[in-house]
Amino acid sequence: MVDDPGAVLAGRRVVLGVTGGIAAYKAVELCRRLVDLGAHVVPVLTEGALRFVGESTFSALASEPARTSLFDDVDPIPHTRLGRAADVVVVAPATAALLGRYAAGISDDLLTATLLATRAPVVVAPAMHTEMWEHPAVQGNVATLRARGVEVVDPEAGRLAGGDVGEGRLADPARIVDGVVGVLARGHDLAGVRVLVTAGGTREAIDAVRFIANRSSGKMGHAVAGAAARRGAAVTLVTTVSRPVAAGVERVEVETAEEMAQAVLARAGAADVVVMAAAVADFRPKAPSPGKLKKRDGVPEVVLEPTPDILATLGERKPAGQVLVGFAAETDDLHRNAAAKLDAKNVDIMVANDVSGPDAGFEVDTNRAILLYSHDRGLPAEETPLVSKGDLADLLLDRIVAQREKEPR
Ligand code: PMT
Repeated sequence: MVDDPGAVLAGRRVVLGVTGGIAAYKAVELCRRLVDLGAHVVPVLTEGALRFVGESTFSALASEPARTSLFDDVDPIPHTRLGRAADVVVVAPATAALLGRYAAGISDDLLTATLLATRAPVVVAPAMHTEMWEHPAVQGNVATLRARGVEVVDPEAGRLAGGDVGEGRLADPARIVDGVVGVLARGHDLAGVRVLVTAGGTREAIDAVRFIANRSSGKMGHAVAGAAARRGAAVTLVTTVSRPVAAGVERVEVETAEEMAQAVLARAGAADVVVMAAAVADFRPKAPSPGKLKKRDGVPEVVLEPTPDILATLGERKPAGQVLVGFAAETDDLHRNAAAKLDAKNVDIMVANDVSGPDAGFEVDTNRAILLYSHDRGLPAEETPLVSKGDLADLLLDRIVAQREKEPR
């Protein structure tokens, strides 16, 4: 949390998008808070928003008159002008329709056109009924946006329109302000930094159709890559999964531990930061069959051999000043096991990831970890609460930035 939000927001140009949900009335309060904290707020209201709130309300409170259309201005390209000039674009409330159009790249009004035209960070605060919020299509769109580096201020549980109660209520304006301030405060603190990230689980062939794999979805690694890109880093992501990546991220697709080792080791020397979030298989079949093994030939005996330990090799070859981060997926004795890996692999930060619960680790959108620092840093271990993988990525990057400031390359 930033101590002085006013110092961060003063003079910053905030495009405040408001879409058509009952929570649009709370965007009035958000607008007022941002202006009070010194931001220059430009409201952009969709047609739907205008059914819930008045244009003149925002025009009276904001720093400029509210905009409502791509065509109501003498400026023929208001969206690119708004998008280019913005320090941050905030959409609150963001309806399911807005999230879907933004995720799909559809620009059919001033707000969606501005969202596609901007290179500024974007914060969305969704609000809708619980059933809609939980729908896989909406969750998929939110995951796509997060992976592209969009900051999502999750809705809260509470009273919804029509007297229903559940998750989907717009986050409190104070939380949305915190989200905006956090994004602006981090700004481009990784500008010029080369970050190499791995994501996903490797697949090790048994035969032409079968493989040994693990449950990694790649969400954690893609979140780190997206957050680093949003903060200005030049990011290369070596991944085994086809999830979306943030604009500007160089993507290298691999499948096996061997392929990942080659891709990573070829690039690591030039990286300032390496984050190994991938779940690399420790063993692979020694002699995979080139064809499909036949059931009629009986149960095959699969002999395993170790894969290359990429992180350990990175630890041995680490150039001075490089920050090397590992993840340790553990089901028991989290702290001790992760600390042993930190020492054995010569990493600077080990993210000890408890993967035994239902809400952290593999596949889910949230995570919880203990950050362990190498002994020569003298920093105490740091336990995180349960947070989104995007938030954990930002926390980790905050610690990496702090380490780089102390020990520049
Ligand atoms: O992808 P998600 O579904 O979002 O799930 C995220 C995650 C649980 C996969 C991720 O947060 C995580 O914990 N990744 C590390 C998983 C893992 O392989 O842990 P490990 O304890 O087995 O390995 C320790 C470290 O060594 C890891 O950084 C790993 O990338 C690395 N390693 C492991 C084996 C190997 N042969 N080479 C390696 O480089």
